Amino acid sequence: NWTTTNVVEEQIALIREQVGDKRAICGLSGGVDSAVAAALVQKAIGSQLTCVYVDHGLMRKGETEQVEKDFVAATGAKLKVVDAEKRFLDALAGVSDPEQKRKIIGREFIRVFEQAQLEILQEEGPEVAFLVQGTLYPDVVESGGGTGTANIKSHHNVGGLPDDIEFELVEPLRQLFKDEVRMVGQELGLPDEIVQRQPFPGPGLGIRIVGEVTKERLDLLRDADAIAREELTAAGLDRDIWQCPVVLLADVRSVGVQGDGRTYGHPIVLRPVSSEDAMTADWSRLPYETLAKISTRITNEVAEVNRVVLDVTSKPPGTIEWE
Ligand code: XMP
Repeated sequence: NWTTTNVVEEQIALIREQVGDKRAICGLSGGVDSAVAAALVQKAIGSQLTCVYVDHGLMRKGETEQVEKDFVAATGAKLKVVDAEKRFLDALAGVSDPEQKRKIIGREFIRVFEQAQLEILQEEGPEVAFLVQGTLYPDVVESGGGTGTANIKSHHNVGGLPDDIEFELVEPLRQLFKDEVRMVGQELGLPDEIVQRQPFPGPGLGIRIVGEVTKERLDLLRDADAIAREELTAAGLDRDIWQCPVVLLADVRSVGVQGDGRTYGHPIVLRPVSSEDAMTADWSRLPYETLAKISTRITNEVAEVNRVVLDVTSKPPGTIEWE
């Protein structure tokens, strides 16, 4: 019979059997799946696991700290944080095209992650043979079912390592659906902020700034996004909506009036959606009072923003994200 306790115990036994006395690496994205996978493996093999978190500077307010502090506090996992903000921002400088941005972020991410893997290999030796991934059952079905190995190539020529290193994959969530993963995360003592987290795209806020991505714009969007999330949570709406992207129209300005002066600022778009699987979505009919509060707070508290607009487009024709 299916209980989260059984699942946890069974997976711990399987992980121990698979990994033995070797070592494993797990990339953390800040999302639910990688956090729960890492927590399970940590419980099974303890300090034989090293987690890696690439801070690309495109996360929302508090999310990096959530991984650095809360995840580590809850699991006791060994965590290597790579601060790659500057590298990502440099690579994104001058780029406005959405596909271009996605490509750059994906490329840099792989490079930074592989570099971190190589460093861990250097530090811990050839016993590092496993890579943990938070693959869920729906991902398994979608991709045809095989388990596998992951290759990394040393682009950076880090002293004396072989050109190709093969990791065997550890995928302890392969039989689980998302809601089951959340239950397992809870059982493992992960905080609600991680376990109940709504979907967030890998490229992060980089694809929620329409226009060039800069540090100033990211900080501004982080502030606006934090306000929207705070108010949605305060209104008890987190479970009613699938997610609510907050988007900065960085290349658009409009005239406003604040205090006794004319302003010429940027609009912030709220994109709350309801959905079952993100393939289709409807715009969420949020209560007017909540929208009003978010709008008032953002325009009062975030300099440079003088207008808040609501996206009332379903998917299709609009995608959930703006880029
Ligand atoms: P769209 O914008 O295509 O988004 O309607 C559908 C869902 O996917 C998320 N999303 C991403 N997730 N990497 C991700 O991990 C990505 O590049 C990416 N792009 C979109 C989006 O937040 C929504 O939940």
